[in-house]
Amino acid sequence: MPDIPAPPAAARAGASSLKEGGTVAPVREILWGSAAGAHKYETAEELEPDMSKLVVKLMVVQADTEFASIQQHRPWLDRAPTLEDRWIESRIIADESRHGLQACRILRDFGEAGQKYIDELLAKREGEHKLEAFNMPFDTWADVGAFTCFVDRVGVYQLRAFQECSYGPLARAMPLMLSEEQLHLNFGSSVLRRMVNDGPKYTGSKAEAQAAVTKWYPRALDMFGHSNSDTSRRAIEYGLKRWTNEEARARYISEVTGLMASVGLDLPAPEFDRHVL
Ligand SMILES: [Fe+2]
Ligand SMILES: [Fe+2]
Repeated sequence: MPDIPAPPAAARAGASSLKEGGTVAPVREILWGSAAGAHKYETAEELEPDMSKLVVKLMVVQADTEFASIQQHRPWLDRAPTLEDRWIESRIIADESRHGLQACRILRDFGEAGQKYIDELLAKREGEHKLEAFNMPFDTWADVGAFTCFVDRVGVYQLRAFQECSYGPLARAMPLMLSEEQLHLNFGSSVLRRMVNDGPKYTGSKAEAQAAVTKWYPRALDMFGHSNSDTSRRAIEYGLKRWTNEEARARYISEVTGLMASVGLDLPAPEFDRHVL
């Protein structure tokens, strides 16, 4: 992924310094925001009420997207065009279930309030989710490709924004989630590429792939949230997120512009069909 600044030096040192005995030294201090330099928060009780509410809010949205995408992928488990594609579909579903579980484990630490959100999350059906991209069914295999290429990629940007954040339990959940998400988005671009290059010999056509790109790209851009979001400003101040919505969106646009040029598909203008600005 191009053009995302590396974590601050302390994080890089922490991530790469392998101690004798083969363990990686965790980063203990808060790396940005108003409490930079202090010890990371390790328990829900340590968080001041506003930060606590924000962590819960961020985890509810995170878990909601994980569970929703399972519902979206499920019909394609036994309809994916090749055996390998079916296997990857099943892996994606397993990965998203695990990500949902990780987000819920963080919510559980917030006691009764957290548990109430978990119960609500598990009761949500198709069409009842928070973000529009997760209420749209996958009508074609091209939808599966474009969703994993564009929407999962936004997920990666969101997770990278949490990397080495000030809340230890959240920071520690990131590395595995990120490595799994990488598989999803590589799969997505490979589906689109195969449709463009091999057409019906694989499945669908270049025109179908293009239609799916035009459909999902605006929903993916919306997922970054409002440009002047107070939530994102507070999240940076608390050391939870590294970038504003607008910064992350701009980096994303530049990455997918290069990617789609290499696949041979056109991206609509960033303003096209947008619902969240
Ligand atoms: Fe996920
Ligand atoms: Fe994913």
